Amino acid sequence: MSLEFLDLPQLISAAGTVRLPGSKSISNRVLLLAALADGETEVRDLLASDDTERMLDALKVLGVGVVSLGGENWRITGCAGHFPVRQAELFLGNAGTAFRPLTAALALAGGDYVLKGVARMHERPIGDLVDGLRQLGADVTYLGNDGYPPLHLRPATIRPDGVVSVRGDVSSQFLTGLLMALPLTGQTVAVDVIGELISKPYIEITLAIMARFGVTVEREGWQRFTVRAGSRYVSPGTVYVEGDASSASYFLALGAIGGGPVRVEGVGRDSIQGDVKFAEALARMGAVIETGPNWMEARAPQGGLVAVDLDCNHIPDAAMTLATAALFAKGTTTLRNIASWRVKETDRIAAMATELRKIGIEVEEGADFIKITPSTAPDRKSPCGIRPAAIDTYDDHRMAMCFSLAAFATPLRINDPKCVAKTFPDYFERFATVTRIAPVIAIDGPSASGKGTVAARVAAALGYAYLDSGALYRLTALAAQRAGVAWTDEAQVAVIAAALDVVFSESDIRLNGELVGDAIRTEDISAGASQVAALPAVRDALLFRQRVFNTAPGLVGDGRDMGSVIFPQAKLKVFLTASAEVRAERRYNQLIDKGFSANLPHLLSDLQQRDARDSQRSVAPLRQEADARLLDTSHLTIEQAVKQVLDWVVEVL
Ligand code: DC
Repeated sequence: MSLEFLDLPQLISAAGTVRLPGSKSISNRVLLLAALADGETEVRDLLASDDTERMLDALKVLGVGVVSLGGENWRITGCAGHFPVRQAELFLGNAGTAFRPLTAALALAGGDYVLKGVARMHERPIGDLVDGLRQLGADVTYLGNDGYPPLHLRPATIRPDGVVSVRGDVSSQFLTGLLMALPLTGQTVAVDVIGELISKPYIEITLAIMARFGVTVEREGWQRFTVRAGSRYVSPGTVYVEGDASSASYFLALGAIGGGPVRVEGVGRDSIQGDVKFAEALARMGAVIETGPNWMEARAPQGGLVAVDLDCNHIPDAAMTLATAALFAKGTTTLRNIASWRVKETDRIAAMATELRKIGIEVEEGADFIKITPSTAPDRKSPCGIRPAAIDTYDDHRMAMCFSLAAFATPLRINDPKCVAKTFPDYFERFATVTRIAPVIAIDGPSASGKGTVAARVAAALGYAYLDSGALYRLTALAAQRAGVAWTDEAQVAVIAAALDVVFSESDIRLNGELVGDAIRTEDISAGASQVAALPAVRDALLFRQRVFNTAPGLVGDGRDMGSVIFPQAKLKVFLTASAEVRAERRYNQLIDKGFSANLPHLLSDLQQRDARDSQRSVAPLRQEADARLLDTSHLTIEQAVKQVLDWVVEVL
C-alpha cells in the first residue's frame, strides 16, 4: 500500500457550488461506441480519470483515431465495426467499465486479443459475460482462473439468428457489454436475462447511448432485449458527457450534513443516470433537496438527519455515500440488496464495515446488507464516541470519497488518497472549496518565551481546544527514560512516541494513567525533549497525534512547527519570542516559585544551547515562517500578549 496519506481536520460546515467531472459510465460507453461507429465523433467534457485513460489507451492500441482537442474534449475516428489492429494485448488496469465492454466487442470483432488487468481485476468475475458470448459463437479462453480475467479472444464463428442468455444478478455490466457488442454480429439477436436484473438504471444509460449512436434495442420488460440485423453505429457528431451522478453524491451529502446549500452542476432532473436517485434517498434522510434540469442542491434539515432502511439496488455506487452519511443520522441505517458491493473495486461491504468500526461505529454486515448505528445521538457539533483513525481505502476511489464525509465527526487520516483518480482526480481539491475546517491558531517560538501561557489563555478565551505540542516531546523523553531507552536511539524512541498512552485534561497530563504534569518539566526532561525532538522518526510518529487535536470549534497549538509542518493551513500563525535574558529570568522565577533551586547563568546557557539545537536541526527547525506574525514579548505582560493575539484572531477569522 502507498505510504501517502491525507490528514483531514474536523469540518465545521459546507456550502458552495461544484461543477462535476464527466460521468465514468457515460464516458467509457461513449468512447467505445464512437470507436465502433461510422464517422468522426467529437466527445466533449469527457471524464479525465484512470478508467477513461485505460479505454483511450486501448482504443489507440486497436488503431482507432484518438485525438485530444484540448481540455476534456476528444475526437474519435470510428472504425465502422472493424478495428484496424487485428492482434493486440491490452492492459486495462482495474477499469471494469473498460474491461467488460471491450471483452464483448473484441470477442465479436474478429481479431486475436489478450485482455489483462491488475491483480484485483483478475479477481472480479466475468464468467457470465463469457458464457453469453460463447453462445453467440465467440472463442474465449481463460488464461488464469476459470470465470476470471485475463482472457484470450480469437475470431468468433457467429451463429445465425438466435437467443442468448446472460445472468443479470451479479453485475449489470455483463448485459451492457453484450448489448453494445451485438450490432457487430450482423444478426438479429435476443438476450434473455436470467435472474433478477440488478442496477437497472445502468442498463438505461446503455440503451440511451446506443440510441444516440443510432441503434435501437427492443425491450420486453427487463427480461428480453433484442437487437435487429442491420443495426450499426453511426456517429451523432458531437456528444456532451453529463457530469457524474455518483460523484455528485458526496457533495450533496456534504450539504445535507454540513448545512449547505451545496450545489452540483452537470447533472440534474434531466439526467440519464440512475444515481441521480441518490438525491431522493438523501431526502428520505431529511435533507432538503432542490433540482433543476442540470443541477441539484442539498441543505441540512432543521432537526438533523434521520436513519433510513433502504433497498439500494437501483443506486449501488451512490449508496456507499449513504453509509457514511448515516454517521450523522439519528437511528440505525440499513442499506439492503447491495450484494454487488462485494465484487467491485474491493469487497465494499467488508471494507466499509472494517473502516467504520475503526472510528468507533457499530456495524452489522450480511451477504447483501449493511447496518450502521452511530454511537449516540450524533450531532456534528458534539460527535459522541466517534474517534480519529487512519482509514484504509483498498485502492477504491469510493472508499476515500465516502470517508471524507466522516471528517464532520472527527479529524481523520485517509490513506492512499490518490486512489480517487479512478473517477475524480481532483476530488479533494473540490472538497476543500466547499468545506470549512476547524480553524487553527499556530503559536510557535523558543523555549520559555511564554507562548504556552499565552496559547492556553487564547484558547480559553475563544473556547478552542489547546495543544501543548512540546508536552508530547517531553512525554516521549520521559517514557523513553522510564523504559531504559537512550534518547539517541531513533527507532526505539519512535516506537515509544507512536505508542504513548497519554490523556490530557484541563489541569494535568497522565502517562500510563500516572500524573506527570511536573515530572515532564524538569531541566533533565527539557534536555531530553530537545534531543528526541531532533529525530525525524519521532516527529513522524507524533504527526497524526497532533493533527487529531484539530477539532471543532477550533484549536490553538503551541510549539516549534505548528505553522510550518503540523498545521500549515493555520488561519493565524504567530512567532512568539523574547530575548534569551528575559526568557531565562522568567524560567528562573517559575522554578523558584515552584520551590525548586535554580541558577540563572546556568539556565541562560542551557536555554541558549536548546535554542541552538531547536533552530539548527534539519527537521522542522525553529524559525519564523514567512507567513507568521512576530510577537516579541520581552517588554509585554502576558495580558498584553494575549490581547495582541486575540486582536489578530478577530482580523483573520
Ligand atoms: O515547548 P517546550 O519547551 O515544552 O518543548 C520541549 C522540546 O520539544 C523543545 O526542546 C522543543 C521541542 N519541540 C519541538 O521540537 N516541536 C514542537 N512542536 C514542540 C516542541
